Amino acid sequence: MDEGGKVLVFCRHGMSRSVTICIMYLVIKENLSLKNAFIEIHKVRPFIEPNLGFWKQMIEYEEKIRGKASVNIIEAARMNKEL
Ligand SMILES: *[C@@H]1O[C@H](CO)[C@@H](O)[C@H](O)[C@H]1NC(C)=O
Repeated sequence: MDEGGKVLVFCRHGMSRSVTICIMYLVIKENLSLKNAFIEIHKVRPFIEPNLGFWKQMIEYEEKIRGKASVNIIEAARMNKEL
């Protein structure tokens, strides 16, 4: 990203955990909001669906570092299904 590099995050249980890591990478390193990070990753991997436990942790983390979360758990559940 900074150097135009690609990051491959692989996990056997792929769709939830590795996506969570990718989202947090964008939030922390690229300063994206949690919501925008999800949307960006969703553009290239439309089948992503972090489970609600991961969402909850990501939301809490965003609140902690930014003082406010860009999504709540209800929106997150809806984005999983509808985006
Ligand atoms: C991160 O993004 C926020 C909101 O878009 C902005 O106010 C802030 O200055 C940014 N921080 C850095 C380190 O780029």
